[in-house]
Parts: sequence; structure tokens; C-alpha cells
Amino acid sequence: MDKTLADKNQDYWNDASKLVFKDKWVHDLQAQISEFLKGNAEWIGIQTSDAENSGQTKLMDYACGNGIVSRSLHPHFSKCIGVDLSDGMLDKYRATAADLGLDESRMIAIQGDLLAPTVKPTTPPLSEDELNGFDLVAICMALHHVEDIDLATKRLAERLRPGGVLLIIDWATRDSLNGTVKQPVMATGQTSSENNHHHHHHHHHHQHHVDETINPKHPAAHTISHDSFSKDQIFSLFKQAGCGESKFVLANRLSPVPGARSWEMQLFWARATKL
Ligand SMILES: C[S@@+](CC[C@H](N)C(=O)[O-])C[C@H]1O[C@@H](n2cnc3c(N)ncnc32)[C@H](O)[C@@H]1O
Repeated sequence: MDKTLADKNQDYWNDASKLVFKDKWVHDLQAQISEFLKGNAEWIGIQTSDAENSGQTKLMDYACGNGIVSRSLHPHFSKCIGVDLSDGMLDKYRATAADLGLDESRMIAIQGDLLAPTVKPTTPPLSEDELNGFDLVAICMALHHVEDIDLATKRLAERLRPGGVLLIIDWATRDSLNGTVKQPVMATGQTSSENNHHHHHHHHHHQHHVDETINPKHPAAHTISHDSFSKDQIFSLFKQAGCGESKFVLANRLSPVPGARSWEMQLFWARATKL
């Protein structure tokens, strides 16, 4: 049988997990993501009072890798669950938990693919209760590795409690205007509506689409389904997954990416509430 994209990702990331975090650009990218997450809990919609008021609050760090989302946001939650296909990555997630001094009751690594057409039990198996009712489900730098993104966002949204937040972090589709980034430089924490206020398209300029596609010779090229996402695309993903109150912000600086044709990409952060 042909390998699925998930199989290819599992093989690739089992090996890559040993080396990838040694690359400076990966380290810098994770620092950029972490800085945003730590500074924008309110924008994301994390209810800081939840932990004190209502017992357990849970974060699902989906396709967790070494757990950059959990590392950045764990103080807001009583429990972080990192789910990934790759055992190699889950070892890195456990190492992050150990580094933070969090035991398995606070931060646990789970092997599985909750986005597969037929979902199999995870390893270790978790009860329905444990796998549902999340306050926040995040998928960071991984939606572009997933075959069916409509199904994926539905599956992730289904894990949320009503009012819970789905957070997507990935690469934004960029348009260029005379070789510059069209979108304005934004302070972190600005909402998309504030952002929209500032950027007007200059119709007299011809807009080019930046070629930010992944070089097909890149070793991870076969693990990727999408090079980047537009704001409209992300908002329609949220909508079809039963989420509203969508917000989207672009990173205030480009990130160097050796695998990309243009050698740099622009991150976005997007969040929506499960209705
Ligand atoms: C680029 S890494 C991102 C890791 C981490 N979230 C971060 O931002 O550093 C992509 C991760 O997605 C995982 N992955 C890819 N497809 C997956 C799927 N269908 N289910 C779970 N994990 C998946 C890979 O194993 C890998 O750890």
C-alpha cells in the first residue's frame, strides 16, 4: 500500500527530531513563536482566571514536536497534552517537560494521529474524557503537513469545550509590493481588525505573488501538503469547523527559512472560539 502523508511525516520526523532543533533558524523560529505566545495570552483568549476557578484546565499541543506551545503557555493550564505521530518528537516533548520540572500529571506525551480518516486509540490510550473538553487546542507549524485540512480543523475543534479556543500557527501566503512585505509591520497583540485599518491595497501597483514555495529538493518537501495559508483560507477553515470570533495576525518580521525558495517566510497566528 502507498504510504500516506502521515506515514511519510512519521518516518521523516523520527529522524529529523534528532537534528532539527540544532539548526539556528529552527531555534530562532521557536523563540519568535514563544515570544508571541507568552506576550499575547489575552489576544489568544486564554482565561487566566480559569485555573483558579474551575478546577482543571487543559491545553492540547497537537503535532507537538518538542512542545514549544506547551513550554510557552503551560503556566495558564493545569495540564498540557502533547500529541504527535513521531516517537522521536515525543521524546523531545518529554525532555521539555523534564526541563520544566513538570511530571506526567502536568505535561504528558501521547503518540497518535487524531486527524486520520479513521482515528485509532492513542499510545498510551486515553479515555474520551481525557481527550475532550480542552480549553485550548493548538496546532503549530504542522497544518502544512496535513493532507485533509478541513477534516483536521474539524477534528481539532471537536476536542474543545464550547467557548474553547483553536489556535493555528503557520506560514502566511504573502503578496509582494515592489519587493517589500505588503502587510504592515505589526506590534504583537494587535488584532486583525486593527491591522486591516492600516493596510490599504494600492491598486495602482502591480502585485506579485511571492514565490515562498518549498524547494522540491528540500528533504522535507515530500512531507508538506500546503506551502502557506491565506487569512481567508484560515477563516473558512475555522467556520466549517464550527468556530467563530476568528482573529489573525501576521508576524512583525520575516523568518529566515533555508528550505524556502525566497529564503524567508512570514508567520501568522490565528485563533477562533468553538461556538
Ligand atoms: C515542523 S514540526 C512542528 C513541531 C512543533 N509544533 C513546533 O512548532 O516546533 C511538525 C510536527 O508535526 C507532526 N505531525 C505531522 N503530521 C501529523 C499528524 N497527522 N498527526 C500528528 N502529528 C503530526 C510531526 O511529527 C512533527 O513533529
